[in-house]
Amino acid sequence: MPARHGAPSIVRMPGEILVTRRIPAAGVQSLASAGLSFDVNPHDRPMTREELIQAVEGRRGVISLVHDRIDGALLAAAGSQLRIIANMAVGYDNIDLAAAAERRIFVTNTPDVLTETTADLAFALILATARRVGEGDRLVRSGRWAGWGPLEMLGRDVHGATLGILGAGRIGSAVGKRAVGFGMTVLYSDPLASAEMEELGGERVELDRLLDKSDFLSIHVSLNERTHHLIGAQELARMKPSACLVNTARGSVIDEAALVEALRRGRPGCAGLDVYEREPALTPGLTDLDNVVLLPHLGSASERTRGSMARLAAENVIAALAGERPPNLVHPNVGDKA
Ligand code: GLV
Repeated sequence: MPARHGAPSIVRMPGEILVTRRIPAAGVQSLASAGLSFDVNPHDRPMTREELIQAVEGRRGVISLVHDRIDGALLAAAGSQLRIIANMAVGYDNIDLAAAAERRIFVTNTPDVLTETTADLAFALILATARRVGEGDRLVRSGRWAGWGPLEMLGRDVHGATLGILGAGRIGSAVGKRAVGFGMTVLYSDPLASAEMEELGGERVELDRLLDKSDFLSIHVSLNERTHHLIGAQELARMKPSACLVNTARGSVIDEAALVEALRRGRPGCAGLDVYEREPALTPGLTDLDNVVLLPHLGSASERTRGSMARLAAENVIAALAGERPPNLVHPNVGDKA
C-alpha cells in the first residue's frame, strides 16, 4: 500500500493523488504546498499491475512514470472522479490517449525542462561510441591493459563527421546545436522543415539519404504507430559500416533483434543505446557485443532536471484539480470533466 502524505485527514481515505513511484522532493513538496493529499509508492521500483489497479481507485490525479502502463482498464479502475494523468516524462507512449480522451481525463507530460539534459546524453553516446569509451574502461578495469599502443583501440573522429538527426523536435535540435560546435555536418529527417535546424545549417533530407550519409545517426522521434520499428533490418543495412547509431528516444523505434544481427555483421559499426524495446529486458546477444555502449535509460537523469520534471508534473496536477487547463496537455482536444 502506498505511504500516506500531505494534508492530514480524520477519515482514513486514500489521498487525492497517487504518485506511482518515489520522485524528487520538489514534486511532492509542490503538491503539499497546494494543500493536496497524496500517496507515494514507497518502493523504489515500479508498482506491479495489480498494485496500480488497486492503488488508483478513487484518485483525482495520478503522477505516472514511463514504466506505468496507463490503459483503459486502469482508467476504469480509477473511477469517474479521475481528472488527470501527469506523466513525469516528455514521452507518453505508455498512456492510451484515446481511452483518456473518452473519459475526458487530461494527460500531460514534462517537455522543455529535459531538452538540454537529454541532448547532453545523446552527445555523450556519440562520443562514447566513436572513441570506444566503454571498451576502454572495460580493458583498464580488467587488468589486461599492457600500456599505450600505436594501434590500440583506434576509433572514429566526431569532429568533422556527418551527424544525421532523425526527428527535428526540441531534443533533436539541441543535439544539432552541439554538433555545430564539433564542426559536424548536420543532416536531419522530419516530416516538417525545422527553422531551428535550418538556422544552424542543418539540411533536411529523406530517411534513405540520412541512413546513407550519416557517420552518426541519432534518433529523436517519439514512439507511435508511424515510428514503431522505423529502423529495421533494411534501414540498418543502408548504414555505413563505419557509422554509429545512437538512440535516446524509445527502444521500439528500432527493431532491436535486427539491430543485434546488424551489429554482429558490422553494419552499422557501433551503437549507443539508452533505451530498449522491452526495458529492462535486453534482446539476447546485445550485451555480448563490444561495439555497443549500453546505458540504463538515463536521458533526463540529472539532479536538477529530474527535480524540474517532478515540479512540472505536480503543477499540471494542481492546475487540473483547481479546475484549470493544465499547462502541458498532450491531447488538446480533451476538455474539462463536467
Ligand atoms: C523519458 O524517457 C522521457 O520521455 O522523458
